[in-house]
Amino acid sequence: MSATDQSPSSRAALDEVVAQVRSASKSRDILPALIERLAARELSAGIAPREAVKRVKRQLHQSGGAYFAGKPAYGRWLTALETADPEARRAELAHQFTIHRSMAERAGALEAYYSGLFAGIQAPACILDLACGLNPLGRPWMPVQPERYRACDIYLDMLDFVARASGLTGFPVETFAHDLAAGPPDEDGADVVLALKTLPCLDQIEPGAGARLIEGLTARHVIVTYPLLSLGGRQKGMEANYRRSFDAVARGSGRQVSELSLPGELGFRLSR
Ligand SMILES: C[S@@+](CC[C@H](N)C(=O)[O-])C[C@H]1O[C@@H](n2cnc3c(N)ncnc32)[C@H](O)[C@@H]1O
Repeated sequence: MSATDQSPSSRAALDEVVAQVRSASKSRDILPALIERLAARELSAGIAPREAVKRVKRQLHQSGGAYFAGKPAYGRWLTALETADPEARRAELAHQFTIHRSMAERAGALEAYYSGLFAGIQAPACILDLACGLNPLGRPWMPVQPERYRACDIYLDMLDFVARASGLTGFPVETFAHDLAAGPPDEDGADVVLALKTLPCLDQIEPGAGARLIEGLTARHVIVTYPLLSLGGRQKGMEANYRRSFDAVARGSGRQVSELSLPGELGFRLSR
């Protein structure tokens, strides 16, 4: 079942599944188009609506919800950033990073991390940060300062927070919602695209979606990273698995590959 081509009864079933998923506080702020696509996939596979609701919620948790270490207090955090002086603002941001497990993992070594991430990249005019989480708020620690920094994710409230908080820090970020499992967004002239710890999440939603995303990008440089620890903090042979999975991504991209030296992550730059 696609979201546009349905009988009235299947449309009603789809709307009901989407409404039930969105009524849960954990998925209320997720891009509705992604919820609808996941729900349509379950229903067209013959899954009953009640079970479809459970499956879509489980998928959304695995791809996004699991990365939150608690409930973000965006309103309170904006006030704290607004009232802090520049030095205290950095400390406040570093504290806020701990809510998103992905950013929390690098929060103790931001300068070393970004210097490894952007090694060999000279003065980019525009960076596009895909499935960004809170990473764009790391701009004050980055060694490159583009004229434009664009970022997308599926959490509408987090994107709003990133846009407002980045404005307060003096390192503005333009945010927009986009489901990367459906394909790349408009790159809008970006010369560097970041896909940090993102491809495994996309492959969970749709096998092969990560490689297809990278193949579809046209920017001169694409930086791809993978986590070295699971969310539970275990190693489980992740590095060997992700190296294998990156090999396939790199082959499909037809780009030149350089491995990056990053604290805590496996990273590569793919360049044309
Ligand atoms: C492992 S976190 C990485 C976050 C960030 N790139 C970083 O390294 O800090 C994965 C991110 O992917 C986002 N995400 C999951 N599925 C997505 C999709 N289909 N399209 C866009 N973003 C997605 C999640 O909301 C989450 O922020």
